[in-house]
Amino acid sequence: MLKGKRILLVVSGGIAAFKVPDLIRRLAERGVSVRCAMTKAAEQFVTPLTLAALSGEKVSADLFSLTDEAEMGHIELSRDADLVVVAPATANILARMAQGLADDMATTLLLATDKPVLVAPAMNVRMWHHPATQRNIEQLKADGVAFIGPNEGEMACGEYGPGRMAEPLEIVAAIEMQFGKPLPRHLTLVQPRPANNGVAPLKQDLKGKRAIVTSGPTHEPIDPVRYIANRSSGKQGHAIAAALAARGADVTLVTGPVSLPDPAGVKTVHVEAARDMFSACFLDLPVDIFVAAAAVADWRVAVEAPQKMKKSGDLPPVLKLAENPDILRAISTTDAKRRPALVVGFAAETENVVAHAQKKLGSKGCDWILANDVSEGTQTFGGDSNAVHLVTANAVEDWPRMSKSEVAARLAERIAAAFNDQSKKNLKKGS
Ligand code: CTP
Repeated sequence: MLKGKRILLVVSGGIAAFKVPDLIRRLAERGVSVRCAMTKAAEQFVTPLTLAALSGEKVSADLFSLTDEAEMGHIELSRDADLVVVAPATANILARMAQGLADDMATTLLLATDKPVLVAPAMNVRMWHHPATQRNIEQLKADGVAFIGPNEGEMACGEYGPGRMAEPLEIVAAIEMQFGKPLPRHLTLVQPRPANNGVAPLKQDLKGKRAIVTSGPTHEPIDPVRYIANRSSGKQGHAIAAALAARGADVTLVTGPVSLPDPAGVKTVHVEAARDMFSACFLDLPVDIFVAAAAVADWRVAVEAPQKMKKSGDLPPVLKLAENPDILRAISTTDAKRRPALVVGFAAETENVVAHAQKKLGSKGCDWILANDVSEGTQTFGGDSNAVHLVTANAVEDWPRMSKSEVAARLAERIAAAFNDQSKKNLKKGS
């Protein structure tokens, strides 16, 4: 997966820099070529010679080095890699990145690059919790920078908490994720507004509101052992259920078959087929919020075979399909007494994403649509990140690619804001 990739590794000055040689080794084992750039402070923790020896490449440190610039200019260097990784990323370099400063080689490369950037923060726990650092992280996430870690644990300074740099193999997993491999389940990208382990507890601004979220695929039986399905993992729907619950909503998650744990603090109803999902949703009405994130199968087999279908020796069987009920449309157009105040659908598209979503908003009768591109290569289905457009009657908002939990947190925040506005008209406008 990583063979032949080129990584520009920016090393800033924290004690965790001692893990960088191991990170370079792990990447080299996987056929990655690494080129390092260091801040002046980083040289206090690991020598340029060590990094040069391990990477087999010159280490860039001096912005004004005539020899370096003659070989490869810093602009060229910043774009030569497939990915830029900052490890360790100190509070200081994060602040400089968030400000767009370019006052040494490392930050100049980071400002000049047009490649994706992944950072592995490492700092004292209080520095991590400081509102200024959290503000910078929010800004960098909004700019599309990905984060791995920090981990929680004992720090070099003797304090305990989040701030330890992710382990080299965890950083390797996050790098693989940048190239399309799903992140192992035990690792998470840092959330700007985490559900329960956050710096500041989330406002309980959805307390008293009830929500239903659908998630995952549905399995449409052909016979007792076979079914029609799709590749939905349920990650997005589950994250939305958790994010709404984290803001105090009373959430029912109606999920098709997935291999995810039930989210904490959420009532989870497990179903198989679209018709079961339909019934489970209607059973839980009335609610204030309905979010349809499930990839419901559009068709089922018209007549399910009661016994396993056998090869008869002649022609293969022809499956006659029947259309499944459209849960989102049914909920959107149900009687006013039961219709949720806010109905949010998804649109999974492979082309003309926004145009199709705008059409779907009308045809489904929902209030908002989150449109995502699920074409091959986007890794949206089954992956850990998503790039969505929030389509409302009046506007289209393009959200940058972010983790599915971040999409969920942002959606929950928008939903809470819309409810706090109190006006149903505003809910529909998406303002
Ligand atoms: N949906 C639903 N019930 C269905 C089909 C879809 O509730 N039987 C919901 C999905 O959960 C999603 C939205 O409708 O919120 C759009 O789903 P999508 O698969 O993008 O569109 P379809 O309605 O299936 O239309 P098409 O396949 O033609 O794009």
